[in-house]
Amino acid sequence: MSRLTTAVGHQARGTSGRELATSDPEGAAERYAVSGRKRFWQEIFRRELAYLVEHLKGCSDILSVGCGPAVIEGGLAKRGFNVTGLDVSQEALNRAPDSVRTVAAKAEDMPFPRSSFDAVVYVASLQFIDDYRKAIEKSVYVLRSGGRIIVMLLNPKSEFFKRKSLDPDSYVRRIRHTDLKKIEHVIADNYAIRTEYFLGVKGDAVLADRVAGNAVLYVVSGTKKSLTPASVNA
Ligand SMILES: C[S@@+](CC[C@H](N)C(=O)[O-])C[C@H]1O[C@@H](n2cnc3c(N)ncnc32)[C@H](O)[C@@H]1O
Repeated sequence: MSRLTTAVGHQARGTSGRELATSDPEGAAERYAVSGRKRFWQEIFRRELAYLVEHLKGCSDILSVGCGPAVIEGGLAKRGFNVTGLDVSQEALNRAPDSVRTVAAKAEDMPFPRSSFDAVVYVASLQFIDDYRKAIEKSVYVLRSGGRIIVMLLNPKSEFFKRKSLDPDSYVRRIRHTDLKKIEHVIADNYAIRTEYFLGVKGDAVLADRVAGNAVLYVVSGTKKSLTPASVNA
């Protein structure tokens, strides 16, 4: 499959990869690639991928927003999903596998026609998007009727997050939104949602643990609300 990369006229904000930060985008992408080869991160990606595969059953066309170098998205493509990855960083997208269609754009612009996708996913990305409300609203527009959203949020209460926040080089320090309940409410305005903690980390061990203090992720999953006659005419 060929890779389609569309630049939509926005300057890359800088970096990709949730572990790394630098003002040099090329350096960040390279460092991301190196860290991604570490066993710890491979285990994180493996579990996130398994979660998505399980929760995307019945979906075909998937949009991943803030996909970075599209490591997990490549895994979805391998499993037969038709995947589009959007990120503001062209440097990150240059590292995406060819099996993923890539689009360089801001999530707030989301340049796709109405009803293009069966599911929209955000893997540890929504909290880094300036105007995440707009991104959520745009996600509604590009989703088909009954479409699904899966938002994997970093859990600021987790031991892992607190540790990373102390590291001046960690990408986590670029987070812009940490109020999970507020984000959850914004998503719930547009989707029928359920939530759960996922992916425990203690030290360097990755656990099947859903306790809030250990879970790296708080996942908000939803189904697009169907339009009421009133909202159709609004
Ligand atoms: C923490 S990284 C997560 C990358 C990838 N999803 C992963 O799990 O490794 C956050 C990503 O969001 C992207 N991003 C930040 N603001 C964005 C925006 N307004 N529109 C699109 N992508 C954005 C960054 O470029 C970065 O790749």
